[in-house]
Amino acid sequence: MIGIFDSGLGGLTALKELKEILPGEDMVYFGDTGRVPYGTKSRETIVRYALQDVRFLRGFSPEAILVACGTVSSGAMKELRESFDFPIIGVVEATARSAANVTKNGKIGVIGTSATIRSGSYTTQLKKINPDLEITEKACPLFVSLVESGFITDGDEVTRLTCERYLAPIREAGCDTLILGCTHYPIIAHEISKALPGVTLISSGKEGALMLREILEKNELKGRGNGKINYYVSDDPEGFSQNAHIFLGDNIGGDVKVVDIEKY
Ligand code: DGL
Repeated sequence: MIGIFDSGLGGLTALKELKEILPGEDMVYFGDTGRVPYGTKSRETIVRYALQDVRFLRGFSPEAILVACGTVSSGAMKELRESFDFPIIGVVEATARSAANVTKNGKIGVIGTSATIRSGSYTTQLKKINPDLEITEKACPLFVSLVESGFITDGDEVTRLTCERYLAPIREAGCDTLILGCTHYPIIAHEISKALPGVTLISSGKEGALMLREILEKNELKGRGNGKINYYVSDDPEGFSQNAHIFLGDNIGGDVKVVDIEKY
């Protein structure tokens, strides 16, 4: 079984990828819908939430866990890895590796939640790969709210203006590659691309999923299930069910159960 979690719906962009590349795996998805957003919280709170999320998933005896949240991947990986003995994979390393491979002019933009950008995790990782890369980071705190509120249709005026405002420094820096450092952002990729024509977008959820497959293969942990996916949230299962298809490109096809995450 593979465990996947995010603060809410965003991690489903990683699950979408996992369903395609690892169709035989059983998976449990947890969305912390009662405490979303994480990206505006302090590091201490994010660590506490992340430990609870993984303690909950530990009950399913996971082979590995994918942290399908840029915010947790940026601020809590050390504590998670010290606390559990199964592989826990974040999205930062895989996404930075892919962006460093893709860029032609060595100028990479990074957008994410306030907590992700504050952590500097992407710049640290990218500079480890190549110290000559020029990185421009920008926090886009309104994007998660826009996505969770459904301002996602092509041409949505509010999202278009917000993209223009937030992404101007990335355009001015001449970046040819942009890391979508939050797993919610692929849902508004169409508007992001309009503000940054010709820029290659790298989705952190997708890259994290690809790295998870790599690690399962390396540790010979792949293909132990029947492709069954169970969904848990900490609040509002109906809202989650209704909106999940936007992220997943498919209906979830089953129940969403509620868990009292504060107990963990
Ligand atoms: N989807 C999460 C991420 O990748 C963040 C959303 C939030 O702020 O909770 O950072």
